Order: sequence, then structure tokens, then C-alpha cells
Amino acid sequence: MDVMNPSQSAADLYAIPQEFADLRDTIRQIAQEKVAPRAAEIDEKAEYPHDLRALFAKQGLFGLPFEPEYGGTGTGSLMLAIAIEEISKACASTALLLMIQELGTLPIRLFGTEEQKQRWLPKCATGEWTPAFALSEPEAGSDPGGMITRATRDGDEWVISGTKNWITNLGIADFYIVFAVTDREVGHSKGISAFVVEADRPGFSVGKLEDKLGIRGSPTGQPIFDDVRIPADHLLGAEGGGFKVAMGTLDYSRLGVAAQAVGIAQGATDYAAAYAKERQQFGKPISAFQGIQFKLADMETQTAAARELLYKACAKIDRGEPDSGKYSSMAKLFASDVAMAVTVEAIQVLGGYGYVKDYPVERMMRDAKITQIYEGTNEIQRLVIARAM
Ligand code: CAA
Repeated sequence: MDVMNPSQSAADLYAIPQEFADLRDTIRQIAQEKVAPRAAEIDEKAEYPHDLRALFAKQGLFGLPFEPEYGGTGTGSLMLAIAIEEISKACASTALLLMIQELGTLPIRLFGTEEQKQRWLPKCATGEWTPAFALSEPEAGSDPGGMITRATRDGDEWVISGTKNWITNLGIADFYIVFAVTDREVGHSKGISAFVVEADRPGFSVGKLEDKLGIRGSPTGQPIFDDVRIPADHLLGAEGGGFKVAMGTLDYSRLGVAAQAVGIAQGATDYAAAYAKERQQFGKPISAFQGIQFKLADMETQTAAARELLYKACAKIDRGEPDSGKYSSMAKLFASDVAMAVTVEAIQVLGGYGYVKDYPVERMMRDAKITQIYEGTNEIQRLVIARAM
């Protein structure tokens, strides 16, 4: 088996070669030493972590989603998931720096021409540029086929008008992957197209920014496109093929959400376990009580199970297996539900201390909640899974 492509052999479900384990240890150290101490402040101030973005760029972490031809590491979905997991243990908002680098470039990586890939990917692989993925709208969330943003051809240009919603990286992104209706008559599976729209184009503006429960260090909101003109060569994939660009992208990127969820769950479990060894009640550490032991054992077990499903789904997507979309949805569904349940239990282990902001577990619970919602609610994941059965 090629050690740099652990997903290659169908006989081995997945393996973590030494190179990946070494990289995981390096990322773990960065996350614990540099990211964890910033997490509470990023959350409290709802502050985009420019400093950590610069650090990740310096460490070459933004190369993880990309192939070597475009300046990336070529290490595939499993290594990317491991990296997202390690960062999420410390700070889920900061993990989004890496997750959006994948989500917002997948449409180009999977559907772009060679010229488009060379134009946009290398600067994302260095971290100089960062993208956004603009699919949802105020009235089109779970049902993106109901979008109303439109793109009209005018000579050698497309003219885009509409407002998107819930868009990660709003105001930070250098370009947006925008999905728009190009033919209203033929239905969404053939009437939507995908475009690259740079943030400095006239007519683009930053609308409402949301004040959120969690992932507060990652700006989310409404980008507005008011007759924004882009050259015809900014169309991604075939005209009318945009819905499949979106769905094909989400098949991959939902693994990132699952990895974020596994990381949050492990971070909360580790914190609760360490706390239980220190916290004394009735003359002994609370970890000596079976009520607490059982909670910690369940948290650890559920998180481990979520990780196994995630890594298996990563291996499947890297091998291009036909059921990889179903596995991606299963990993996202299971891991996010685990993250929510585990973080609630972590608060319970800490008792009153879990409920206050001096300790990180309440933030972890607030951050966990979004993993059940974004990149397709868990109800939509069940729909995708059931349809594939
Ligand atoms: N890959 C490729 N093509 C796909 C596909 C996939 N995974 N899934 C569906 N398609 C194709 C179908 O084959 C079909 O093509 P034909 O008409 O040629 O046969 C076409 O797409 C339409 O498919 P459906 O009829 O199944 O579409 P639908 O309207 O019933 O919707 C859905 C299916 C799964 C519910 C989909 O709408 C969906 O995933 N909804 C959730 C959207 C979502 O995840 N939004 C998250 C936004 S991103 C975000 O949250 C990030 C952020 O920045 C915060």
C-alpha cells in the first residue's frame, strides 16, 4: 500500500501511516499551545482569528485540502479530517479556517477547468486567499433548489443578482462560489449554475452579520449581489450543472463537519475526564464515583465510534466508492449527534462549573449545536441516507 495514500487498498479499510501520525502530533501541539489559549477570547469577542490564520499559513496547514499540482500536500480527506479534529478539540471556530478552505474550493477542484484551478487554488493552498460557499438563501435552506438568485448572460459576461444567507466567511472571503438560477423553466437540477465571484467586484456588498450561539469567531451572514458582472469564464462546470456542483461538494465537505464534531466531542471528554480526577467531593475525586465513571466511559465510547465512521467515510471518498456520499452523510449525522450529547454530559460532569464561562465546556456545547445544522441539517442527512438505501 502506498503510505501517502492509505485509502488506496480496499482490503485495508483505512490506515494512518507514520507520516500522518507525525503530522497529527504537530497539529495537536499547535492546537494545544497556540489555539486553545485563544479560544475563550475568540468566542467572547466574536473575533475572526487573523493571528491563527497567519500561523496556519506559516505552518503550511492550508495546503491540506489540495493536490500537489496546486500547492497542496496531496494527503487526502483522512489527513484533512485528522487536522480539523485536532484543531476542533481546542477551538471549533478556528477549525473553520481550514474547513472553509476546503468547502469553498471543492467546486473548483471537482468541477473547474485546469485554467480555473491554476487561477484560484494555489493562493488558497498558501492561505493568502480564502473562499466562501454561497448556496443557501433566506427562503432556500434545506431546499437549495428553491433559490431565487439569478444569473443572466450579457455578451461575454454574467450578471448576478440576489442575496445569500448563512454564509461562512462573510466579509473575509476573497471570492464566493455563488449558485444562481440561469434557466427558470427547466427545474433546479438543470437550471442552476455555479460561478466564482470575487469580493472586489462592483455590486457586491456585505449584508447582515449574524450574532450566533456558537462558532462565534467565524463570521456568518448575507452576501448581497446587486447586478454583479463577472466574465463568462467564471462559470464553474456546465451551464445548468450547478445543483450537481453543490451536491457533489457537500458529499466531501460534510466529512469536515463530522471531523469538527469528533474534535469537539473529544475535547469535551478529555476536559471532563481531567476535571473529574481533580475535583474532590465527599473526600475523594469525583472520578472515583461510578455515576461519573459511566458518563465518561459512554462519552469516550461514542466519540471513538464517531471517529471510526468518519475515518471509514474518508477512506471511501478518497477511493471514489459509489456509496461514499451516503457514508459522508452518516458520519456527519452520527458525529454531530455525538458531539451534542457528549458536550451536554461534559457540562453535567463539571456541575455548576460546567455552566459558567470560566470553563470551556459550555462553549463546546454551543459550538457542537451547529454541527447538527449546517451543511445540511441532520434531518436532510437522514433523507440522503434513506434515498441511497
Ligand atoms: N452528487 C451529484 N448529483 C446529485 C447528488 C450528489 N450527491 N445528489 C443529488 N444529485 C442530483 C440528482 O441526481 C438529480 O439529478 P437529475 O435530475 O439529473 O437526476 C439532481 O441532483 C436533483 O436531485 P434531487 O431531486 O434529489 O434534489 P432535491 O431537490 O430533492 O434535494 C437534497 C436533495 C438532498 C434534499 C438537497 O437539496 C440537499 O442536500 N439539501 C441540503 C442543502 C445543504 O446541505 N445546505 C447547506 C448549505 S452549505 C453550508 O451550510 C455551509 C456554510 O457556509 C454555513
